[in-house]
Amino acid sequence: MLNNEPKLLKDVLLYENGHIRRTKHILMVHSLTKSIGSEEGLTLEQQQIVQSAAILHDIAIKKCKRKYNDASIEKQKLECIPVAKKFLKACNYVPSYTEKILNLIYHHHDYGAYKGIEHQVLIEADLIVNCLENRNHKEKAADVAIHFHTRTGKELLHKLMETKEFPAFNTLCDTVQETDDMHSIY
Ligand SMILES: [Fe+2]
Repeated sequence: MLNNEPKLLKDVLLYENGHIRRTKHILMVHSLTKSIGSEEGLTLEQQQIVQSAAILHDIAIKKCKRKYNDASIEKQKLECIPVAKKFLKACNYVPSYTEKILNLIYHHHDYGAYKGIEHQVLIEADLIVNCLENRNHKEKAADVAIHFHTRTGKELLHKLMETKEFPAFNTLCDTVQETDDMHSIY
């Protein structure tokens, strides 16, 4: 199977070896990328490319922590391409897809440089999840709002900014609190 996204997701989760925070982050960014991309009218090919980039967007963090004890953006840019290439090759990605996916991964922190709708969708999905993972999610959402340009991303972010104070998303998942406030973020 060419461009095998289901295998890519499985392979990356296995690589993360049960690391809870990164596993949750990958699953959430992948899911949100799919939703925002679809709502924004991406083609099937664009969807496949950006969803695959979402799975791989933070793939360099593990290696950077081991190699440098530093997963800064600069270090991730040094390491992300060769690591991501191995995963894409194992999942039979064609060269045209691979090139675009690697480009999205490399630039996913470059908020000011618009590189197409797929790039924007990935940025917004990642930033929304980062907000959900932050205890001060409302302040974080307000800080990153300037980077949002799609109708769907803005809608989701503004809903997050309107919510009452509640524990960050990870804490909610861990404690399984069923409150009305909790449902406001779904
Ligand atoms: Fe991320």
